[in-house]
Amino acid sequence: MSATTTPVESTGDVIDLLRAQHGRIRDLFDLVMHSDGRERKEAFQALVRLLAVHETAEEEIVHPAARRLPGGDGIVDDRLSEEREAKELLSELDGMDTDDPRFLKSLDKLRMDVLTHARAEERYEFDRLRDQFSPTQLKGFAAAVRAAEATAPTHPHPGVESASKNLLAGPMVAVVDRVRDMIRDARGKD
Ligand SMILES: [Fe+2]
Ligand SMILES: [Fe+2]
Repeated sequence: MSATTTPVESTGDVIDLLRAQHGRIRDLFDLVMHSDGRERKEAFQALVRLLAVHETAEEEIVHPAARRLPGGDGIVDDRLSEEREAKELLSELDGMDTDDPRFLKSLDKLRMDVLTHARAEERYEFDRLRDQFSPTQLKGFAAAVRAAEATAPTHPHPGVESASKNLLAGPMVAVVDRVRDMIRDARGKD
């Protein structure tokens, strides 16, 4: 297993895991920016996959809980519109050659948007989640997210060289479904 496909390790609860994923997302952006050729392609695939896992987990766990906080609707609506914009930018990047100079320019914009978004989540949502779920639930969610990340497809088009094309169209839908199902199962066990 290469550095770009190693799941985030965390022994804590889902908030620790999501925070650690923010760090890994930042590192993967750096890797994509400072590599080229095949290495850049693989790093970009790993980034797209991690973003799919991460944002799905947040949509299932973090945002619905944050809505129940005072002023939560406004906070969550802002985060969801940031996530929508990021997804649009990501699908533009998805159709580009990773060695095209325009790729880096758009990637840099996405990087700034995603990192700003992550800081807002940490500031306005993450810590307050600990009041809404039991420690057992938070650990259960972390286990579900880790298991989903470990078992969801890593290589979108096995054996196909142009694997960076259109990741979002099909393969990432499978990743999103896997994460969603495993989190819903974890919730059902409470
Ligand atoms: Fe998010
Ligand atoms: Fe996040």
